[in-house]
Amino acid sequence: MNDIEKSIKDLMLKNKRTLNSYQYTVPSPDTYPYQWLWDSCFHAIILSHFDVEDAKKEIFSIISKQFNNGMVPHMIYWEKKDVINFDWGKDGTSSITQPPMLAYAVWQIFQKDNDIEFLKSIYIPLFHFYKYLINDRDPHENDLIGIIDPDESGEDNSPRFDTLLNLPPVQTREKSLEKRLLLVKENKECNFDAPFCMKNFFWVKDVPFNVIMVENLRALSFIAEKLGNSHDVAYFNKKRDMIVKAMRSLMYEDGIFWSTYGEDYQKIKLKTWAIFSPLFAKILTQEEAKKLVEEHLLNKEEFWGKYPVSTVAMDEPSFDPEGFWRGPTWIATNWIIHKGLLNYGFSKEANDIKNSSLELIKNSGLREYFNPLTGEGLGARDFTWGGLVLDMNGN
Ligand code: GLC
Repeated sequence: MNDIEKSIKDLMLKNKRTLNSYQYTVPSPDTYPYQWLWDSCFHAIILSHFDVEDAKKEIFSIISKQFNNGMVPHMIYWEKKDVINFDWGKDGTSSITQPPMLAYAVWQIFQKDNDIEFLKSIYIPLFHFYKYLINDRDPHENDLIGIIDPDESGEDNSPRFDTLLNLPPVQTREKSLEKRLLLVKENKECNFDAPFCMKNFFWVKDVPFNVIMVENLRALSFIAEKLGNSHDVAYFNKKRDMIVKAMRSLMYEDGIFWSTYGEDYQKIKLKTWAIFSPLFAKILTQEEAKKLVEEHLLNKEEFWGKYPVSTVAMDEPSFDPEGFWRGPTWIATNWIIHKGLLNYGFSKEANDIKNSSLELIKNSGLREYFNPLTGEGLGARDFTWGGLVLDMNGN
């Protein structure tokens, strides 16, 4: 076992929490001492490599606070602490969601031990969660899933959302938070009604969220197939195809899928790592992928700094190498791009991303994010997402 693998296993153990019959992992003990939705999916993926039972527990705990309408909240406050104490209008949870990586994580766990009972026990909550996204986040059946707050993208202060929040390209994290908290307030006043009320305040069809939805509907159809639910298999495959088609007609221009906002699908033409996320769900053709990788990913002026992949292109006015989601390299986004590159046979580039991620961790530790120009570790300490290197293939 190499040193990094050992430090990841130690960290997962250190950040593991148990409460009543539930077990979960905090992303970082000091900075993020609660449970988060897509973090828990990442945790389950990491844990599936060395403790499949813990991986399942992570899924059961995150699903345990599912709302009656099917939404899975992005935060669970199992224990109250002094940080990130916002009034979301709900007891013990937030009132928004996060990228739906759940079915993917469940399918990955199943690959490890073929435990059909696990699939059976998780299928109904999964079904309702994805059904909620399909129904409530796409009320007019235009086949793209909407988010009602930047935090639902998992990239809280990404410049993709600046225009909508009326923020300039250079800004502070406080200013961004202020705007996002206004949306939390609107959400409460809307009585958490996304399709008819919240969509008037913030309504983005985000590329990574939809990509993750597509890939997860694929996983969900595999799960349904294992359980013999052939109608569900057909349904999820149909929905998946419809989202891919809508992404093409409403988001694609000049070789890039752009996030859109509003009911008239205005494209947000700002280059972030999101432009590579469609590789993860095989949405591009081989030719389109090649062009995207050569022109943008490997471009030293844009995304391929000393420690790729920067979350915002280095030639964007909003690029800030230390700015949280405004430029730094994150291991989870690297993992998504790495997987995407492998889908198209770009094994050298996928390997480069793996090695660069390992180097960042080796030199700067398990930090939340990294300066793409210097490799300096930034943000939270003892942060779990670095563990995703265990799920990167190749050497
Ligand atoms: C930050 C990240 C978000 C993550 C959370 C917990 O808010 O932007 O993606 O889920 O921290 O790690």
